[in-house]
Amino acid sequence: QIVPIVLAGGRGTRLWPISRSSRPKQFLALGGAGSLFQETLQRVADPDQFAAPIIVTNEDYRFLVAEQAQEMGIELGAILLEPAARNTTAAILAAALYAQQQNEEDQVLYVLASDHKVKADAGYHEAVKLAAECAGEGALVTFGITPTEPATGYGYIKQGEALPKGGHKVAEFVEKPQLERAQQMLDEGGFYWNSGTFMMPRDVYVAECERLAPETSAAVAEAAQRSAIDMDFVRLDKKSFEQAPDISVDYAIFEKTDRAVVVPSAFSWSDLGSWDAVWKVGDSDEGGNVTQGEVTLSDTNNSLVYSDYAHVAVHGLDNVAVVVSEDAVFVGNLNEAQRVGDIVKRLKSQQ
Ligand code: GDD
Ligand code: MG
Repeated sequence: QIVPIVLAGGRGTRLWPISRSSRPKQFLALGGAGSLFQETLQRVADPDQFAAPIIVTNEDYRFLVAEQAQEMGIELGAILLEPAARNTTAAILAAALYAQQQNEEDQVLYVLASDHKVKADAGYHEAVKLAAECAGEGALVTFGITPTEPATGYGYIKQGEALPKGGHKVAEFVEKPQLERAQQMLDEGGFYWNSGTFMMPRDVYVAECERLAPETSAAVAEAAQRSAIDMDFVRLDKKSFEQAPDISVDYAIFEKTDRAVVVPSAFSWSDLGSWDAVWKVGDSDEGGNVTQGEVTLSDTNNSLVYSDYAHVAVHGLDNVAVVVSEDAVFVGNLNEAQRVGDIVKRLKSQQ
């Protein structure tokens, strides 16, 4: 059985003002029936294929996680609470060590981001199956997405030697390149985006952390050893966990390991990192507009208008994002929607 590990500790600042640190994007319904976190749980809900998922999240989100799982009637394996955000290497390791405590035999971990929009079609299930096979043979597998633009917010994977069953060895892993390098890789071909979703043998991941990220490994091992159980939650020890460096699994492990394998994935996938991404995956009208909530448009094209609160009317604009929440409004050029992250930083520094 595969053990899903769901990472739900991110803050999602680029989707302000709908995504707030009190309720970040993974806990919101962004054009779906449930929240992105709930959709993620749904994708791993088949008990024939998956064990009960382990959720790793920030202390602040413990009730959101518990409530949203309960709302769906999904039984969780555990909710691990991080006393501080130390990024994905540490979060995944905490889950891997917890799984080791529960089960001596090695297991395959399926690590999922909680805030991606994924269409679980036949192509998706095929990719998951192949990835699990490769992981069963000792590989650290990442799912590769065919790039469509020189995005700088993603990791890039160069495919190496083809494997007999499918998939490729990773020849090179470049996390978040500069624009020029991203364009180069796109022109050269043979590169994938890293989807940020992984399939890994548990004990190999633990061993690679010891070898390639010894500080993280020591800090998290101690935090796990000293963890306390509090109702449904497993609290990692604060003092030890804080010693872990803030580094993502992409930089700490995937750029360095020689066990990485990429499984090309034909399914539809989006990080939904910013409003332009929400616009891209949304169902648009004939004018190319994506709307949610009470919205009236006239003479407006290629825009995203999203309201959680008031009735919003937009006239005579092209390519804009208008996002309205109960206590804040964002209006901006849709092409530059990434900049919301900078605005949030400025707002925080003014507080
Ligand atoms: N529990 C926990 N703790 N979860 C975390 C933490 C943490 O400290 N930091 C991030 N996460 C969660 C986020 O909520 C998200 O679901 C996932 O881990 C990935 O983190 P992001 O911060 O969104 O990473 P990214 O988007 O910048 O980059 C990663 O994903 C890209 C694809 O979306 C990398 O893996 C890239 O290589 C990849 O292309
Ligand atoms: Mg992300």
